[in-house]
Amino acid sequence: MPAGPSVPAVPSYEVRALAGIPEVRPGDDLARLIAAAGPALRDGDVLLVTSKIVSKAEGRIVRAESREDAIDAETVRVVARRGALRIVENRQGLVMAAAGVDASNTEPGTVLLLPEDPDASAAAIRAGLRELLGVDVGVIVTDTFGRPWRSGLTDVAIGAAGVRVLDDLRGGTDDRGNPLSATIVATADELAAAGDLVKGKANGLPVAVVRGLGHVLGEGSAAADLVRAPADDMFRLGTSEAVREAVTQRRTVRAFTDEPVDPGAVRRAVAAAVTAPAPHHTTPWRFVLLESAQARLELLDAMRDAWVEDLRRDGKSEESVAQRVRRGDVLRNAPYLVVPCMVTDGAHDYGHARRDAAEREMFVVAMGAGVQNFLVALAGERLGSAWVSSTMFCRDVVRKVLGLPEGWDPMGAVAVGHAASAPAQRPDRSAEAFIEVR
Ligand SMILES: Cc1cc2nc3c(=O)[nH]c(=O)nc-3n(C[C@H](O)[C@H](O)[C@H](O)COP(=O)(O)O)c2cc1C
Repeated sequence: MPAGPSVPAVPSYEVRALAGIPEVRPGDDLARLIAAAGPALRDGDVLLVTSKIVSKAEGRIVRAESREDAIDAETVRVVARRGALRIVENRQGLVMAAAGVDASNTEPGTVLLLPEDPDASAAAIRAGLRELLGVDVGVIVTDTFGRPWRSGLTDVAIGAAGVRVLDDLRGGTDDRGNPLSATIVATADELAAAGDLVKGKANGLPVAVVRGLGHVLGEGSAAADLVRAPADDMFRLGTSEAVREAVTQRRTVRAFTDEPVDPGAVRRAVAAAVTAPAPHHTTPWRFVLLESAQARLELLDAMRDAWVEDLRRDGKSEESVAQRVRRGDVLRNAPYLVVPCMVTDGAHDYGHARRDAAEREMFVVAMGAGVQNFLVALAGERLGSAWVSSTMFCRDVVRKVLGLPEGWDPMGAVAVGHAASAPAQRPDRSAEAFIEVR
C-alpha cells in the first residue's frame, strides 16, 4: 500500500536540484551531507541521488591498469560488442555500456565502480535522513544509460528505497474504458529522468528532490525489480551476438514435450533453409512436413518394417532386432516430423564416374547446408530438433508412403518439438583444434 497521499485530481510536481553538496570523499556519510544541504526535506519527497557520489562515499574507487580490465572484472555476460564499445550485464545485473565503470571523474590509474548494492545504498540514505531529519522520503540512486532503439542518454534508477519502482496498472481501464493489459509504469526510472533535468551532468549538483508525488512512496520494492527476467527478455543479445549464438544453440534434442509445434515457425525455418549455398544456382532442397499424426505413423511403421527386413537379412537375432528398432523412438515421440529431400535435376552429367560422384557430393553438401540452416532457424524459434539419418536407408519406401516423385531423395528426417529438458553441456570446442594454417 502506498505510504503517501493519493493522487490529486490535477497532479503536479516540483523538481529542484539540491545546492550545497560538497565534493564527496570515501567514507563520507551521504545522508548527513544531504541533510545539511536540504534541511527543508519533507515527508513524501523523493531524492534522486547520482550513483557517482554513492560510489565515492562507499570507496568504490579502485586502482586499475586499464578501464578495460576493470570492465572485464565487473562483467558477467557480454550482450553486444562493437569495436571497443561493450554492452554488458554487470555484477549488479544491470545491462549497460562498459559495466558502469567510469574513468572520467577519477585520478589517473583509478576507476569508479558502481555501488556494490545500490538498493542497499538507497536504503541507508533513507534511514539516515529519517534519523537526522525525522522525514519519510523515498530515495533513488540514479545512473545514466543509453537505450536500444532510441538516441540519447537518460537517467534510470539503479537503486531504490521507499519508492514503488513499478506501478502495475494492469487490470485497470483507460479513460475510454479500454483494458490496460500490459501497462506497468517504470515510475522509478521516470523519477530518475526528472531529476536529471535539473541535476545536469557537470555542474556539481548530484542530488535532486521531487516534491508533490508522495503517492509513489511505498515499501517492498527495489530497483532490482526493474531488471527484466531473462525468460521475459526478447532482446537478450545484440544482433551479431544473437546470430553467432543461434548457431551454437542448435543442439540435437531427442526428447520433446507434448506442446504442439507452430506450423508457421516451421515455414519460417524452411524460408531460411532455402537461402543456403548450392551449386549451379540450383535450389536442391525440398521439405516434406508431416503435420498429421497419421502421416507420421504410416511413415514410421513402414520404415520400421523395412529396417527389420534389413537387420534380419544381416542375420541379427530377434532380440537384437527389437533392441535396435526401439532406438527409432526419437522420431516416434516427436510431435512434428520433417523429411528434407534433395533434388538433383540441376546437376551436370559428365558420363565420368569420378566427376559424376563429385557432382552428387556437391548437391549433398548443399543439402547439409540447407538442413543446418533449417535447424538453426528452428533454434531461433525456440524449437528443438534432431536430424537423424533413417530415411536415407529406405528411400524407396519413404517415397512410396509419402507419395513423393522419383527424383526426390530423402536426406534423413528431422524431429521437431519443444525440448523436454536443456541439452547436456558440451565442452567448448576451440577453433585451433580444427585448423591448419598455410
Ligand atoms: C546426417 C546425420 C545423421 C544423424 N543421425 C542420427 C541418428 O540416427 N540418431 C541420433 O540420435 N542422432 C543422429 N544425428 C545427430 C548427431 O548424433 C548429433 O548431431 C551429435 O550427437 C552432436 O550433438 P549436437 O547436434 O547436439 O551438437 C545425426 C546427425 C547427422 C548430421
